[in-house]
Amino acid sequence: MKKTAKPNFPIHEILESRWSPRAFDGKNIETEKLQRILEAARWAPSASNEQPWYFIVGRQGDETYQKIFETLVEFNQLWAKTAPVLMLAIGKKTSNKTGNNNDWFQYDVGQAVAYLTFQASFEGLFVHQMGGFDAKKATELFNIPGDYEALTAVAIGNQGDYRLLHPNLQKLELTERVRKNTGEFVFSNKFGEKSALI
Ligand SMILES: Cc1cc2nc3c(=O)[nH]c(=O)nc-3n(C[C@H](O)[C@H](O)[C@H](O)COP(=O)(O)O)c2cc1C
Repeated sequence: MKKTAKPNFPIHEILESRWSPRAFDGKNIETEKLQRILEAARWAPSASNEQPWYFIVGRQGDETYQKIFETLVEFNQLWAKTAPVLMLAIGKKTSNKTGNNNDWFQYDVGQAVAYLTFQASFEGLFVHQMGGFDAKKATELFNIPGDYEALTAVAIGNQGDYRLLHPNLQKLELTERVRKNTGEFVFSNKFGEKSALI
């Protein structure tokens, strides 16, 4: 099943084909692919090159996977159990250089996850990010230090058969992907004033 974007202007095919499925086939991801996906995150830009991203990676069957799974809200547990890889994306809240708060750490972790998502898409894999997890529990289970924050859980895998999902989830899998029009978020002159570009 494909849920490709319907762009108004042509975009790269890996961006067009990417979406966030809930059905994975459980098949293992080759270690080399996983290494390339994480390498992509490494090359994301970040404020002052702080690289505030950290990932805890679990593979189905190992203890890390099980612990990440336990932090997921029930809704996400319903489907994420078929993903062969579960990760936690963690950000360092303070600057390595100054020790002050890094105001961009969440922004930068998001960019790193975007990078790994696009690499995964290039590898024919799918990524589904989750805000629905217990960050406090994750902090405890993984001894995450005080100036770091667990920001999202991430499922990665090969797409599976949506008909094997819980019936409520099957419907979600079939709904059309919708987006705002570009004119609603691209402005000129002042905020809210539509750009002539669009
Ligand atoms: C930070 C973040 C948190 C998300 N949390 C969840 C979640 O807890 N459960 C879930 O099923 N999907 C979650 N999603 C997936 C979004 O719902 C999905 O990306 C969005 O609907 C757009 O769909 P698409 O990725 O298929 O284009 C999350 C996505 C992001 C980026």
